[in-house]
Amino acid sequence: MSNAGSYTTGAGVSYATKDVKQWFVMIKDVKGRFADNPLWGDGWGWALYKPEDKDKNLATNYKTDCLSCHKPVEHKDWIYTEAYPTLSKE
Ligand code: HEC
Repeated sequence: MSNAGSYTTGAGVSYATKDVKQWFVMIKDVKGRFADNPLWGDGWGWALYKPEDKDKNLATNYKTDCLSCHKPVEHKDWIYTEAYPTLSKE
């Protein structure tokens, strides 16, 4: 569930309410430290958590669980940067 409101960042900005269903998490890894781990690669650690078990990463392989949807933004380090204007270089 989400609501939307007007803030100093703009009008109609949406935000999650108490019923958050899941969290997608990415951790930057420029060194490729965990080459043999299917949850690490392409410059990131990839994870999916749900409220029922906050200690368990439900993703098992980022290549099948994450990359297909993030393919359009591969050229932007896999991130949909339009949501983060401060990341854009002028
Ligand atoms: C069904 C398609 C889909 C899948 C599967 C998916 N993503 Fe995404 N993800 C998106 C889209 C589209 C966005 C940007 C729009 C948004 O935030 O809703 C996004 C945004 C994100 C963001 C916020 C940063 C950004 O790029 O805007 C993170 C972090 C993220 N995804 C991580 C993951 C991880 C980790 C996985 C695998 C466990 C994953 N995603 C799987 C489609 C997907």
